[in-house]
Formats: sequence, structure tokens, C-alpha cells
Amino acid sequence: MTPKPIKGFSKLSKEAKMEWIANEYLGGDDRCIGLLKSYWHEDKNVQKIHDEFIENTITNFYIPFGIAPNFLINDRVFCIPMAIEESSVVAASAKNASFWLERGGFKSEVISTTKIGHVHFAWYGDFKKLKALFKQIKPKFFQETEKMTANMRARGGGILDIDIVNKTDLEPNYYQLVAKFETCEAMGANFINSLLEKFSKILEREIQESNFTEEDKRVVIIMCILSNYTPECLVKCEVSCPIEELNVDPSIDPNEFAKKFEQAIHVANIEPYRATTHNKGIFNGIDAVVIATGNDFRAIEACGHTYASKSGQYRSLTHVDIKDGQFKFWIEIPIAVGTIGGLTALHPMVKFSHQLLGNPNAQDLMKIMAAVGLAQNFGAVRSLVTTGIQKGHMKMHLLNILNQLGATEEEREKIKFHFRDKVVSHRDVVDEFCKLRGIKNKSKVNQGS
Ligand code: MEV
Repeated sequence: MTPKPIKGFSKLSKEAKMEWIANEYLGGDDRCIGLLKSYWHEDKNVQKIHDEFIENTITNFYIPFGIAPNFLINDRVFCIPMAIEESSVVAASAKNASFWLERGGFKSEVISTTKIGHVHFAWYGDFKKLKALFKQIKPKFFQETEKMTANMRARGGGILDIDIVNKTDLEPNYYQLVAKFETCEAMGANFINSLLEKFSKILEREIQESNFTEEDKRVVIIMCILSNYTPECLVKCEVSCPIEELNVDPSIDPNEFAKKFEQAIHVANIEPYRATTHNKGIFNGIDAVVIATGNDFRAIEACGHTYASKSGQYRSLTHVDIKDGQFKFWIEIPIAVGTIGGLTALHPMVKFSHQLLGNPNAQDLMKIMAAVGLAQNFGAVRSLVTTGIQKGHMKMHLLNILNQLGATEEEREKIKFHFRDKVVSHRDVVDEFCKLRGIKNKSKVNQGS
């Protein structure tokens, strides 16, 4: 039987939702209910907080929360909280944080913190008239939103500027109000979107009340929304050392390593296929911190990828310079984060992450995230140009394979010992497991995919 659609699902209790799912989608097999309930938090209050983050919560979905210690960022050592499921990410961050700890650490600086939003609208008259009107009425956008901006202004933020922009080169009759904001410790989405909606009302009203002809009074507000592309909310983080200190692996001389590293960054700069994977690796690190600190990883990723395309081609977010025997490697990336608002005051683990980081302000958090992204990228490229990525990756993945196979503690220890000096492959682990158990027919073991 194909499942039926449902009206009013959100109104059902949690129990009823799970029962409906079991009946409708699992042929009445209600064992899933036990599974789902086993992920409920034992403290009802904590569970309630999670339930109310979104609509239709039926349970929680765990991902590991790990720590990458030894991050020396601007002369302070951090333990970085990372929420991520991918086996090797925390290990790579930790390993490369330690590498740079001994070479002066990460130097991170915030270049700018401006956020941006738009009222997208259609207008059908002569832009010169609209521009002249806007010049006259511009102060009203600030005055009439004073109440809305009072708290933010008290914290040192608010509306930085508003302008009207002709976009008819993109689309006939398309114009924008472009507003810039400083949102201090908040990511600022609600603040910005509320203001933009108010701006659109002011604009509509002023056009109606102007001495424009009836025809020129026609304005269509298309939408009001912040942009997640924040190229003016920028952070730069750098590591550097003399080339001879790049003794990353006994198999490769530091000079040769530096050269291959530079080539790898160059490839990521000129070849979008490589740049995508290269930048994905950067976000392995950044996203994990973004999630652990309760920020919006979709927004931060979208922004980073757009920034990577700012030249008209998608390129590497990291850069390298080798000069006078010195290796310099840096990232420049827009990261719009908040340390107040959103999940930060609600999610107990998010609160813990902030505490662990010493309750950073938004700028400090930008610096930390950039450092983790850089460490992650250094680690990935370091492996790629030396041992290959699979060695470290599969070493961490070994535990996942052993879990899939249902290995006992004793078997796990024996197999881990066996692979201590070997490259791990899924097939070799299955072989070793079968050998230990005396299994002849390998198709009988659960090998996963
Ligand atoms: C895997 O999640 C990330 C890497 O592919 C990144 C890279 O290739 O630079 C290892």
C-alpha cells in the first residue's frame, strides 16, 4: 500500500506522530518507536527545548561532539568544540593545530563586520526621479526605525547606510534598496529582515505621497531579505614558518613539500573541480565549529562559496606564498556569526561550547573559525601531497567498519593492532575479521556498503 498524505500532522502528539509513521511508512512495524524514544533526552526540560526548536520533532539526531585541543590563535590556546560525523576531521584539526602550535600558531584578524540586506522592488518610471526622491526621504528610514534600532545602537551597531540602486541592467524595472548594518554580537537576521520590511513600507508610502504622476506611483515590492553573502564581514587567518620547519613527514624534504603544497593550492585556484573539494575540506572544520556554537552553517557555507567565486571563477579560499625561505599560508573568508541570540542561549551544548571557548564575542569567534578552516585545509593538502588522503581517513574509518561488522572489544583491539602500520581498506578489514572468527564465507558478515 502506498502511504497516504496527512492533514494536520503538526497537531498530532509526538506519540501519535510516531505511530502514524510506523503504520503508514513501516507497514505497522512499531519497533522504530522504541528506537526513536531511545534518543529522547532523559531530562524532560532539555527534551522540551529540543522539541521546540523546530516543528514536528519526534526525536533527536546525534552527531559526535569532539574536541581539537592545542589551537594557538593570537597567542591564546584554545580547545575547539567540533560537532561533525566525518571520521577524520577532528583528528586532522588536532594534529595540525599541534603542528602549528610549535611554529607560532595562527594569527587571525577581523577585517570588517558589515552585514547587508535588500528590498528588491519593481518601478516603472525614470530612475532619476526616484533617486531624487530617495535623497529627500533618506533620513526617514533612520528616524522611523529608531525604536527598532535603539538596543542595537546602544551596543554600538545599527543601520550603517541605505542606498537606492538601479538594477535594470539585470532586469527591466528592477531596483533595490541596499542597506548595510552592524549587528555586533548578533548574527542579526531578524534585526535586518524586520528593518528591511519596514523600509519597504516607508518606500511605498513615500512614493504614493510624492508628486509623481499616477503612472510613476506604481511600485511593486518583490521581497525584503538580508543577503547571506557578506563579503564585508571578513576575517583573515595566517600561519607561517621558515621552510626548513616544514618537516611534516620523514618521506619528504621540507623544500619539496613546500613546492608541492604550493602547486596544490595553485591547482585549487585554477581548477574549479579541485577548488570545490579543497573548499569543502575547509568547511569540514568551519562547519563543525559553526554547529557546535549554534550558528547557521548553511548561511556560512553559501557565503564562503560565493566569495570563492568573486573573480568570476570558483577558486581556493586559501592562499600560499613562499618567499625568502619563508612559508606563509592564509585564508580570507567572510564569516557572519553571532554569539548572542538564536540557539546560543538555549541549546545546553551550544552554551558549553561558548564557555569552552571563553565566551568569545562574534569577532573572536570569526577568528577561531577561520583558524580551524585553515588548519583543516593545511592538514588535507599536507596529506594529499605526501601520504595520500586515505591513510589517515581510513585509520579513523576503521572503527566505523569494526562497528558495522559487530566486532567484540577483543577483536577490535587485535584488528587495530594489526593495522597499526598498514593502510586500512574496507576489504582488508573484513578479511582480517573473518580470519579471526574463522569465517570462510565472507558474504555472511554484515559488511555495510
Ligand atoms: C574530505 O572530506 C575533504 C578532503 O577531500 C578535502 C581536500 O581534498 O582538500 C580531504
